[in-house]
Amino acid sequence: MKINVGIDLGTTYSAVATFSKELGRVQVLKNGYGKDCTPSVICIDHGNIMVGEDAKEEQKSGNVNTAAFYKSMMGDPNWSAYIDGREYSAEELSGLYLAHLIQDVKESNHVDIDGAVITVPAYFNDKQREATIRAGKKAGLKVLKIINEPTSAIIAYGLTGGKEKNVLVYDLGGGTFDVTVAHVSGTRIDVLATNGNHQLGGKDWDETLLNQVKEQFYSEYGVSIEDHEEDLKELQVKCEEAKKLLSSVASTVITIQCDGYLGKYTVTREEFDDQTYSLLYETILLIKSCFDEISEARNRPFGWKDIDEVVLVGGSTRMPQVKDMILKEYGRPPITKDINVDTIVATGAAMQAELCVSNTITLTVAGPAAGAAKTGGAAPSSPITLTIRNSDIQDITAHSLGMLALASDEKSYINSIIIRKNSKVNETFSREYTFAGQKLQVYVLQGEARDPYECDIIGAYSITGMPKNNKNKIKVNFLYNSNGVVEVNACLSDGTVLSATREKTNETLSEIIARLEREKKEAEEEAKRRSKIEIMLMIDTSGSMSGDRIVEARRAAKEFVKALDLKHSFISVISFADASQYKCKWENKEWSLNSAIDSVNVNDVGYCNAETPIQNNYKKFSRDCSRVIVILTDGYWDDQQTEERAATAAKADGIIIYGIGIGDADEAFLERISSGKGKKVDLSELTATFKEVATSIATEVGGNTLR
Ligand SMILES: Nc1ncnc2c1ncn2[C@@H]1O[C@H](COP(=O)(O)OP(=O)(O)OP(=O)(O)O)[C@@H](O)[C@H]1O
Ligand SMILES: [Mg+2]
Repeated sequence: MKINVGIDLGTTYSAVATFSKELGRVQVLKNGYGKDCTPSVICIDHGNIMVGEDAKEEQKSGNVNTAAFYKSMMGDPNWSAYIDGREYSAEELSGLYLAHLIQDVKESNHVDIDGAVITVPAYFNDKQREATIRAGKKAGLKVLKIINEPTSAIIAYGLTGGKEKNVLVYDLGGGTFDVTVAHVSGTRIDVLATNGNHQLGGKDWDETLLNQVKEQFYSEYGVSIEDHEEDLKELQVKCEEAKKLLSSVASTVITIQCDGYLGKYTVTREEFDDQTYSLLYETILLIKSCFDEISEARNRPFGWKDIDEVVLVGGSTRMPQVKDMILKEYGRPPITKDINVDTIVATGAAMQAELCVSNTITLTVAGPAAGAAKTGGAAPSSPITLTIRNSDIQDITAHSLGMLALASDEKSYINSIIIRKNSKVNETFSREYTFAGQKLQVYVLQGEARDPYECDIIGAYSITGMPKNNKNKIKVNFLYNSNGVVEVNACLSDGTVLSATREKTNETLSEIIARLEREKKEAEEEAKRRSKIEIMLMIDTSGSMSGDRIVEARRAAKEFVKALDLKHSFISVISFADASQYKCKWENKEWSLNSAIDSVNVNDVGYCNAETPIQNNYKKFSRDCSRVIVILTDGYWDDQQTEERAATAAKADGIIIYGIGIGDADEAFLERISSGKGKKVDLSELTATFKEVATSIATEVGGNTLR
């Protein structure tokens, strides 16, 4: 039989459960040892893989080829464990662990497993969620969904069909802490706020004991247990056991055997509670910031008084200090009856798995009166059935999503927030950009800070496929999908879908920012370069230009100069016939240009058109600017072929050529040497034509970009 399961992939213990349609409730699937929970420990010894109890035994006996607590390192490219002769990432270890756990559960329960919902701490970021999905796939599972552990606990605990209530889930596991506040009404769950620390859990309480006895051993024998890896592994397990004992007894003894010495140290609950208060206090602060966030969103105070029920989840909530703290802060004890802190997360995940495949589940629960009985109300009533839809569960995101953007001072980069923390998942948020290029790059960040260095960079997205040479209006859409994983897509304002691909990059944030700064500087320099224009104004002064033609040519040239933006335009006036003669070079004062134009005379350089002015002058431009040649001629040139070849080369080099003809000019030749259309006009239109060319230079060549 193929079943779908919920998996609580815990830092220290994992559990697998499935929803039974027949029974209308969840069944926890036991492991080969008949236990609900399996230690999240893996041992790889000479290629032989062991997980769970067997691996924990190996860890206890000091086998260095064991790994534990790798969950909090999920998605961290800089972390690996060296086991059995090679490095393993947390994702690989989780994948191997899951594969073996599932195999064990399958064999022990005589079932075949198809799909799985895997739980993650609500505070897991994008990278950690994606790594968890990949680990599930590596284990051969069809990953139906990734769900937040506290939300999962609320699904399992809260859906009683009863009246409206605000539930606070305090989830302190082995390696992570999450606090989540949700509004539950009948079969509907709306998560209001979530906070956490994915590096805070029971292991930190273990470590406090470890540090204490380790120091005592060192001061007694001068031996550092850190130097003895096998003994250290063993001591870690002993400290966890002692911590668990301290939940029910006032004191216990931890023994250390190392380097031939034996140390026995008594640890007391009172001392332990004192030493770990700062850890507990951190959880109180995170609860308070949850309340603050809800207050801010509602614009009215929200606090302990608004909480109807506190639910404890996670093995570490067995420590009396947790219950004492809740009692002190809340004024009432937390709900503990009917809740199995170890399996409640897997139970909710199993319900979610069934919701994923069937969209609804029918649950048999104790009647609402029984719910009240949990808090000391009326007597239990007979069981009722509840129908829950997938859409009844609305989760939120634990991290704000932003993008790397230039600050308004244009000097520094910030995290410009697009989706605020505690926003609903599956809701799209958009940003619009006017963009002229062909590739828009968006760097997506996760975190609350304005300073991008305090955030996680989760991806570089390239948006391409926009039409060329256009100021496109691009809408970029950002979304946290139902797995809490970020999705980015883009379209044009008319709805045309653009391609948005996540680029594989190993660049760090500081490398990205350094590159963006470099690119920005280059673009500014390019704009500056492009804003300078050099123009060669070539006027035919062969014999045929005498009379009205040269007079009109001078008038048109002066109007041309007047219409130009002389702040950025530098002009050489060239008289040509059988040779070229510069009347001025790269001049930008109007009076000086006018006097150069006045000095343009027929027969300056011969009587005929033997000159090829483009060929002989186009290499005399500066390189770092826009370059334009404007030629006025009234006749055929002797060597059109050479000139055409030169014009082709000049244009290929980026030089823009305007050919203007009057009188007997060869229009077809002008067409061939010009960049756009060559033009032959009546003498009376010459001034207007030159003015048009000046306007065209300003708009097409971009000489006014700096203004
Ligand atoms: N009686 C107890 N007293 C104190 N701590 C306990 C007790 N029982 C279990 N724990 C601690 O609870 C933790 C395991 O809890 P749980 O199985 O809920 O965590 P997890 O799901 O593995 O971790 P996480 O949810 O952080 O990924 C361990 O640190 C374990 O030492
Ligand atoms: Mg857990």
